[in-house]
Amino acid sequence: MLMKSSNQFTAIYSLLVVLNCLTAVFAEDLVIADFESGTYDGWTVTGEAFGAAPAAGDLPGQMEVSGYRGAHLVNTFFNGDATIGNATSREFRIERSHIAFLIGGGPHKDSVGMELLIDGNRVRAKTGPESESLESANWDVREFAGKTATLRIFDKATGGWGHILIDQIVQTNEPPERFDLTGQLADYRKSADYLNEALRPQAHFTPEINWMNDPNGLVFHNGEYHLFYQCNPAGNSWGHMSWGHAVSRDLAHWKHLPLALPEEDGVMAFSGCCVVDHNNTSGFGSTTRPPMVAVYTGHGHGKQVQNLAYSNDDGRTWTKHANNPVLDLNNPDFRDPKVFWHAPTKRWIMVVSLAVEKVLVFYASVDLKRWIELSRFGPAGAKTKPNWECPDLFELPVENEAGRKLWVLEADMGSGSVAGGSGGEYFVGEFDGTTFTTLQDAQWVDYGRDFYAPVSWSDIPESDGRRIWLGWFNNWETCLVPTSPWRSCLSVPRTLTLRKVPAADGTRTQRYVMMQRPVTELSKLTTSTIPLDTTQATWPPAAITNPGDMTDMNFALSATLQPGTARSCGFRIRTGDDEFTEVGYDSDPGVVYVDRKKSGNVNFHKAFAGRHEAPTRLIDGAASVHVIVDRSSIEVFINDGEAVISDRIFPSSQTPTIEVFGDRTARVTNTTLQQRKSIWHR
Ligand code: FRU
Repeated sequence: MLMKSSNQFTAIYSLLVVLNCLTAVFAEDLVIADFESGTYDGWTVTGEAFGAAPAAGDLPGQMEVSGYRGAHLVNTFFNGDATIGNATSREFRIERSHIAFLIGGGPHKDSVGMELLIDGNRVRAKTGPESESLESANWDVREFAGKTATLRIFDKATGGWGHILIDQIVQTNEPPERFDLTGQLADYRKSADYLNEALRPQAHFTPEINWMNDPNGLVFHNGEYHLFYQCNPAGNSWGHMSWGHAVSRDLAHWKHLPLALPEEDGVMAFSGCCVVDHNNTSGFGSTTRPPMVAVYTGHGHGKQVQNLAYSNDDGRTWTKHANNPVLDLNNPDFRDPKVFWHAPTKRWIMVVSLAVEKVLVFYASVDLKRWIELSRFGPAGAKTKPNWECPDLFELPVENEAGRKLWVLEADMGSGSVAGGSGGEYFVGEFDGTTFTTLQDAQWVDYGRDFYAPVSWSDIPESDGRRIWLGWFNNWETCLVPTSPWRSCLSVPRTLTLRKVPAADGTRTQRYVMMQRPVTELSKLTTSTIPLDTTQATWPPAAITNPGDMTDMNFALSATLQPGTARSCGFRIRTGDDEFTEVGYDSDPGVVYVDRKKSGNVNFHKAFAGRHEAPTRLIDGAASVHVIVDRSSIEVFINDGEAVISDRIFPSSQTPTIEVFGDRTARVTNTTLQQRKSIWHR
C-alpha cells in the first residue's frame, strides 16, 4: 500500500515536472518591441539618427535592407551614417530564458549596437554584423530572472557603417538559429519555380538562393571543375561573406554543394583562390592524396589578412588552418590573393592587392604558410579613384607568334571603369618569377558594365592546356538587380589567349590583346542551329522571318556585320512593343555596342539604362559578333573575342522576336541562331 502510494506520488510528481518544463518551453514569446505601430511609443529617443519614426526598410543612400519582420524596423541610417542618438525602452521584467532580436548594421563594438541594462548597468551588449541583412541574435538571461531591465539601442558612430538596425525584440524560451540556410533551401527546392524563374539564366551559373558576388577558388581536381563564390548565407544582399560551392564535370552543368567556408567569429571569408598542393608542401595532406588548399582573405576586427583552409576529400569539407593568418600587414584593405605554382623557381607565387593604394604585391612561399615579399606593381592603369582588387596573373600563348608566351596581370576597380561603375583592366608583359614588367598600356577587360572580378582556373591539366576564366556578371553600382530569391550570376567560362592585332583606332600600331571565347563545351547545350536570312537589312528594323520557335531567351546569335556606308547595322532582340535590346556596329565612331536603354526593367537603378561600346576594327569591311542571350544577360564576343561586351538585361518577356536593321548598303550575313537547353532542367 505504502509502495503503491509512493509510486503514485513519484508518477504525479514526474508528470508535474514534465508539464512544468513543457509550459516553460512552450510559454509564448513576449514581444518587447516589433516597431509595427510605426512609432517609437514606449521608447525614449534622443539625437537625430533614429528619425521621427521607425523606418520602412532602407533609407535614402543605403544599400537594400533585408531580413526584418513586418513593415518597420529601427534603422539609424537616418540622414546617413553621420547622425547619432539613443533609444531606450520602457522597463520590463525578465520572464523568459532569452531575449532574442534581429540585428544588422555596423560592426563597431561599443559605438553601435544594443545593450541590456539592469539597475542602470550594462549586462549584455551586441553590435551589428556589417551587413544590411538582419540576422537573429539572442542573450541568455536566465541569471536575471524576475529582475527589471531596460534596453538601449545606441549609435555613437559617425563614419562608414555608423548605423544599427534592430527589429523583433522578444522574450523567449526558444531562441531562433542565427540564420536558417538549410531550411530555406529545403523550402526553395520544393518550389515550382526551382531554378526556373523568368529572369534566371539557364546556361550560366547562379546560386540557388541568396546573394552572390565574385567567383573564388576556381580549381580543377580529380575530374571536377570547382567553383566557389562569395555568398551571403543569410540573405539576398551583401553580408556575412562566405564561400558557396559548386562543381562541374563539363563547365556547362553545375551541381550545388553546401557552404564551403562560412564566416566565423566575426571574420568573413572574402575572395581568394584554391590550389592543389601536389607535393604536399603545406603538410595538410600527403603526396599520394594531395590536399586542396584555399588561400582567402579574412575580413574582420578592422583588418584584412590572408588565411588558409584545406580539404582532403575533394573539397567536400574544409578545415581552417590553425595558425591563421599567414599574412597580416595590419591593413584594412589588403585582399584577394591569387596563388600559383611557379615551376622555374619551384615555389608558390601570390599576387594580392593593397586595394586603396592601387598596388599589387607579389609574395613567394615554399609551403603556402610562410611568405616573403618579392616586388610590387602599381599604381598604374586607368586614372580613376585608386582601388584595385581581385588580381590574377597567368601566362598565355600568343596565337599569331609561334612559340611566344607572355604574362597577363589583371586587376579590378570598384568604380570608374570604361562603361561606368566597376570593371577590370589588364596588362600584358613579362613575369620573371619575382617582378612583373608591362610591355604596353592597360586595356579594358570587358566593355560592358557587368563583368567583374574574373579569375582563372588553377590546375587545368597540361593535356588540356587552356586558361579559362569567368567573372561576376554584375556591377557594384547596380548590383541590387531585380531578381529573387537569388541575386547575380556568373559569365560563361571563357578561354583566354593573346593575339597581336592592329589597334581598333585605325592607326598602324599593333598591340597584344587578350582574346576571350566561350568554352566549346557550351555547344553541347545547343538544341538546333538555324541559318537565318538577314541579307535584307533595312531601316526600320524588320522581324526576321522564320527564326524558329523562340520559346525561351536562351540562345546564341552569330553574324557578320558589314556596314557599307550605313551609319549602323545589327539586331534588335525585341521583348515588347517598346522593349528591345540592340546590338550593332556603329560606323561613327567605329564601335560595336549594346544598347539596353529600352531592354525592360531599367528603372531599378538610375545608372542602369545605357549604351556600352567597344572600339572595333573592321576586317575586310566587316565585324563579326557572337551574341549569347540568356534570359537576363547578354554577352557579345566581337571579332572572335578581341573585345567583349557583357551586360545584364531584365526583359518583361522571355519569347523574343529577332529583328535586323541596316540600310541598302549594309549587309548582315552568315547569321545563325542556336537555341539552347537549360543546364538545370534536363
Ligand atoms: C570584389 C570584392 C573583393 C572582396 C569581396 C567581398 O568584388 O570587394 O575585393 O574580397 O568582394 O565580398
